[in-house]
Amino acid sequence: MNKPSKIIDLSHSAALDVQGVAPSASALDKIKVIGGQQLNGIIPISGAKNCALKLMCASILTEETLRLENMPNSLRDIASQVELLDYLGCTVEGEGDIMAINAGTITTQTAPYDIVRKMRGSILVLGPLLARFGHAKVSLPGGCAIGTRPVDMHIKALEEMGAQITLEEGYINAKAPKGGLQGAKILFPKVSVGATENLMMAATLAKGATVLANAAREPEINDLGECLIAMGAKIEGLGTDTIRIEGVPSLGGAHHRVIADRIETGTYMIATGMTGGQVRLENTSIDHINSAVALMCQAGMSVEQDGLDVIVARDINTPLKGIDIMTEPHPGFPTDLQAQFMAMLTIADGAGMVTETIFENRFMHVPELSRMGADISVQGNSAIIRGVKKLTGAEVMATDLRASVALVLAGLVAEGETTVNRIYHLERGYENIVGKLGGVGARIQKA
Ligand code: EPZ
Repeated sequence: MNKPSKIIDLSHSAALDVQGVAPSASALDKIKVIGGQQLNGIIPISGAKNCALKLMCASILTEETLRLENMPNSLRDIASQVELLDYLGCTVEGEGDIMAINAGTITTQTAPYDIVRKMRGSILVLGPLLARFGHAKVSLPGGCAIGTRPVDMHIKALEEMGAQITLEEGYINAKAPKGGLQGAKILFPKVSVGATENLMMAATLAKGATVLANAAREPEINDLGECLIAMGAKIEGLGTDTIRIEGVPSLGGAHHRVIADRIETGTYMIATGMTGGQVRLENTSIDHINSAVALMCQAGMSVEQDGLDVIVARDINTPLKGIDIMTEPHPGFPTDLQAQFMAMLTIADGAGMVTETIFENRFMHVPELSRMGADISVQGNSAIIRGVKKLTGAEVMATDLRASVALVLAGLVAEGETTVNRIYHLERGYENIVGKLGGVGARIQKA
């Protein structure tokens, strides 16, 4: 493997600070936005957070080096995952958007509560650790702001592959049968991105074939599958709801480029739709969010692919229209764009309805948007949004990543100043959001 010329060693947790991926914001940091500017210019899109986190876990499946390119290395969630891999004994090195991980040096198969609780994505070490070492002990991640988010499907499916699993003192204790995990036919009762990924990774080193039925079809799963194939895995059916994995004795190193972040892409599309103007989103694709793009166009925006970039625009004289959306597993409308779309509907002409079917508690942005003058009423898992003439700036706070960014978007069109508290959440998933929005004309700064 060719190492990047200047590597910063992340192999000890203190090095998180050295690389600069460690949280730069304290819980008290804020963002101030003054609304009223159209957005015009260019925004570079980062690699997908929700791919990157899983690809990092895939590195555990081999003792050779996995080299990842287009990594959103400055995100707080990536720093948490580095912390976990480092704890396990992996060697993690990074520079710019490159990360090289060597799990040949793993010393423990225990993922402790203190690290796992920071980010649910760390449950994805369970499948790889169990597959390669035959045992793993991973803290249960617990609930989070958007819902209870159980991991029962991950556990049950691994049991179907022969693992013995007990839950003790908040930990998942998993042991593979003698000779390793066994291929199995697994039917997920519900579509789950994480369970599909955990099982797909576990199955790469199992004895025989595994079939995952009712598998998730998110682009992040394809990307993980492509990386695993580059590492030597045998996988068919990516992009369909039936994925077949033929186990192999071992996997090797690989070089893989992470796909563009479709949720970051969609977020900046919606931002431009709200403010009016024209923005070129660099190095991304509409193919991964077709359903959301179709709805944006129905609402009055224009979105088109231009080579490797996407151009998004709305003429300020074309009013936004209220429309209905419902979140669904891919290829449906993504839950991770629901809050942002709702922010847009608050200023549309007429009413729109948002129905959330994936998570039970993903409307925490509603009271905050209401504080800015939005007219929203919630009934169960649906919200009716009646467009208002204008939002007004306010001090707001949100408790998860996408809710936080929805408040920033609302701030871009609100009259006066909006202060978004706890930007900690934003830094989990948006690289340099202040710089990127500021670069296309937004009046935004960290305070
Ligand atoms: C992933 O979470 C993403 N996270 C989420 O993005 C995203 O919202 C979600 O997929 C849906 O697209 C990462 O990729 C790190 P699921 P995941 O398993 O895998 C239930 C963001 O903002 N379920 O597909 O945890 C679950 O409670 C984040 O970037 C079970 O019941 O989601 C939910 O209702 C937030 N039992 C539904 O399935 C299980 O064992 C779908 O969840 C697993 C899940």
